[in-house]
Parts: sequence; C-alpha cells; structure tokens
Amino acid sequence: MRNVILTGFMGTGKSSVGRLLAHRLDFRYCDLDALIVEEVGISINEIFARHGEPHFRALETEAVRSVSREERCVVSTGGGAVISPENRCLLREAGVVVNLTASVDEVCRRLREETDRPLLKDDRSGERIAAMMAEREQFYADAELRIDTTGKSVEDVVA
Ligand code: S3P
Repeated sequence: MRNVILTGFMGTGKSSVGRLLAHRLDFRYCDLDALIVEEVGISINEIFARHGEPHFRALETEAVRSVSREERCVVSTGGGAVISPENRCLLREAGVVVNLTASVDEVCRRLREETDRPLLKDDRSGERIAAMMAEREQFYADAELRIDTTGKSVEDVVA
C-alpha cells in the first residue's frame, strides 16, 4: 500500500484519524491544509479572506500534486479537495482512498465551536451543512472504502 488518503466533509475526523492511523501503520502523516499554511505562511481563513476561494483551490491542487509523489504516508485532505477532477485522479493514483462520513447532526455538533472553517463562517446551520454534503456526495462516494464515524471514537475508526 503506497499511501492512505482520507477524504470527507469538514468535521468527519480526517485529521485526528489520520494522525493515529499513521502512527499505527508506521507511516508519515501529512495534512494538506497544514502544507498549504506552511507554504504561504498565513492561515486558511486569511487565504480565503485576502485571496478568495479560487486561489485557495489552486494552492490545494499544488499540495495534492506534491503529496501524490509520497510513499507510506497517511494524507488528510481538506473537505473540498475532491471537488476537482484533477485532484480526484491524483489522489486515486496516490493510494487507497478512504472516505470518512458523519451525520449532519454530528458534524454540526463537532463544528459548533469552530472558527477556522471559512466556508461555514456565516452559516453553520444543519441546512447549510446538509446542502453542502449533498452537493459533494458524488465525489466523496468515489472512494474504495467509506467509514461512518458517527458516534465512534477515533480509536474505533482507526481500527
Ligand atoms: C474546506 C475544508 C477545510 C479547508 C477549507 C475548505 C472545504 O478543511 O480545506 O476550509 O471546502 O470543505 P477540513 O475539511 O479539514 O475542515
């Protein structure tokens, strides 16, 4: 297995699961959003506010290209990384794509205190989250394995 790629909506636990899974597999851990922040030196919120979403998506594709050259790495993608056909293709070639899911209620609960999700800054309602999830479902479904994390601990999901 070359890499494990975790996809999924915001709040489905990609980062927490990714870190522990990497530890268990003795793989490296790589977080796409963290790579972007490291590269440009400002937060995801600031990238959206100063340069807009299209610029963020371009940086995200650069980050996907760079992780697609990795080996033995668990990669957490940002929730929107799978929207781009190029990203989906690169990620599929890079390793096993595992999609984490969670119910709308669970995502709302997990993101209640969050302030670093620019796309949910004005509206974090269940309706908004459900609509975004539904729009993206076809892209998330394009995975080798799907794991519902609702009500599960990070340990359970990793197992
Ligand atoms: C986004 C998800 C975020 C981050 C950015 C955009 C999205 O990552 O990449 O705010 O479009 O769903 P997380 O899924 O890690 O929150």
